Amino acid sequence: MKPLIIANWKMNPSNLAEAKQLFNSVAKGVKNIKNTDTVICPPYIQFSVFNSRFPKNIKLGAQDVFWEEKGAFTGEISPKMLKDIGCQYVIIGHSERRNYQKETDQMVNKKVKAVLKEGLKPILCVETLNQIRRGLKGISGKDLKKIVFAYEPVFAIGTGHPCSLERAGRVRLTIKKSFKNIPILYGGSVNSQNAQLYIQKAGFQGLLVGGASLNSKEFLKIVKSIDFMSKT
Ligand code: PGA
Repeated sequence: MKPLIIANWKMNPSNLAEAKQLFNSVAKGVKNIKNTDTVICPPYIQFSVFNSRFPKNIKLGAQDVFWEEKGAFTGEISPKMLKDIGCQYVIIGHSERRNYQKETDQMVNKKVKAVLKEGLKPILCVETLNQIRRGLKGISGKDLKKIVFAYEPVFAIGTGHPCSLERAGRVRLTIKKSFKNIPILYGGSVNSQNAQLYIQKAGFQGLLVGGASLNSKEFLKIVKSIDFMSKT
């Protein structure tokens, strides 16, 4: 798998014009990137920034999903709806949702299953091995291989205090022992200075980038540094 760089815009930017501008500059910037895959996860309401004319190496992702297919679930979006609009990846169980929306591992588990059923790729955000076990309950075999983990220590998210490479690398190895073939991304205060290190030194297969993904120059620096590293 090529290194996977996921941009989680969270609840930003505050208008469609800015979202378009940001998406277009990133899409333009990654045009010649060959060794890295980039996924942009805008707020649902800004999904129209994505356009299938963009180069194949930029993909659309969602920041959340609901587990039912359709029906009376006010405010929710189904995996089918996401697929229909060209979305390929779905972030599930982000710590901000676990915190503000009180998402439990059981809810996360239902979402992972629903997303797999629709053929989309879940990015399961976790901090502990137990969250992984509970989030993956009842999922096995070839479905497991379609999942990507993102190790996101809460203290590092949006704080400007990234997890040390030693600690992140240790957690990665612990996860790897139980789940050998599942790619693991790192997320938490990633920037253009530290991005490479999480891949080169701590062994992650990609990054989940929040704050730094809202600045196209900074985000492209991250993508290009990983691309360059993967080439050499
Ligand atoms: P951050 O967010 O890069 O702003 O720390 C990461 C995340 O929440 O995925």
